[in-house]
Amino acid sequence: METLKLDILSGDYENKISKAAEILKNGGIVAIPTETVYGLAADCTNEEAVKNIFKAKGRPQDNPLIVHISDVKTLEFAAKDIPKSAYLCAEAFWPGPFTMILKRSDNIPKSVSAGLDTVAIRMPSDKTARDIIRESKTPLAAPSANLSGAPSPTSAQYVISDLGGKIDAVVCGKDCSVGVESTVITLVTDPPKLLRPGAVTLEQLKTVLPDIEVDKAVLNMIKSGEKVSSPGMKYKHYAPKTCTYLVEGDCDKFAQFVNKKPNCAALCFEEDKDLLKIPYLVYGTKKEEKTLAKNVFTALRKADDFKAMELYVHAPSKSGVGLAVYNRLIRAAAFKTVTL
Ligand code: TXA
Ligand code: MG
Repeated sequence: METLKLDILSGDYENKISKAAEILKNGGIVAIPTETVYGLAADCTNEEAVKNIFKAKGRPQDNPLIVHISDVKTLEFAAKDIPKSAYLCAEAFWPGPFTMILKRSDNIPKSVSAGLDTVAIRMPSDKTARDIIRESKTPLAAPSANLSGAPSPTSAQYVISDLGGKIDAVVCGKDCSVGVESTVITLVTDPPKLLRPGAVTLEQLKTVLPDIEVDKAVLNMIKSGEKVSSPGMKYKHYAPKTCTYLVEGDCDKFAQFVNKKPNCAALCFEEDKDLLKIPYLVYGTKKEEKTLAKNVFTALRKADDFKAMELYVHAPSKSGVGLAVYNRLIRAAAFKTVTL
């Protein structure tokens, strides 16, 4: 299949958005920019189109999709028995990098939620994403637009390298400003739980949901067969092809440790680079978690170019958006950590 490229940076914005919406209305699958990462969208009420998302990504059948909406009213189309806390969260965090899990309404086919009786819903803040949802006149189911297991794409170029030839179109816009996927919480449990950290931080969530708990799968490996609150948590994710380790320790200890590793490479902070004697890639300064989030997936993709034997990643702090970066990196490392 030929993938149509709709480059919205080169002009004719309205027509290109209408074209994307028309393809979606006709049951096609289209990659679209959002503020977090690019998403692979389909009309969430069209089961055939939803099936094609799973096929194009090679996504496991039991991993549910997020439904994207462009106004709060549509919450009532997609979910039922909506608690007051959901409206408080919508008010505080939408539009933005925030997803909540509620009871699924019958308007959303079971296949979107991989058979679960819940549904994940997000209202993105990215203008293009919202324009496309609005013009399509239906909520859009959209996982990240990468091949299953690969780092999520933060620019159109990575969508094309993963999915070119497998999807109907890609809307090529700017690089994503946040860089890691949305914060996911569930309001179906009591107390509510943080399932995936993102740019809406735990500290911010606590201002609206003081009793929210962090699901143990956020930072710990799930044993095979153990029940998970969010199916996406049990898969190996974001992984470079190079064998990757997450390393905790200060800059001096990090340098001493990796400098003894011939044929290896490092993914490190600005503060580390003068100390290193092995090839490295900087993903930001350790003081700015937001920059680390914006760069982390691109860095993981580029890390394979070293063709190194092993990749050692300097771990960020777990506060603020750092928790989201840490959560992605520990998965990229398949939970292999070194504490210095
Ligand atoms: O920022 C984002 O959220 C991006 C952009 C495109 O919006 N989307 C995204 O989708 O990251 P995806 O499919 O890559 O990740 C969705 C995560 C998965 O871990 C999935 O298991 C979980 O959300 N999820 C979706 N529906 C769920 C449900 N009903 N119950 C539990 N977890 C759910
Ligand atoms: Mg994903």
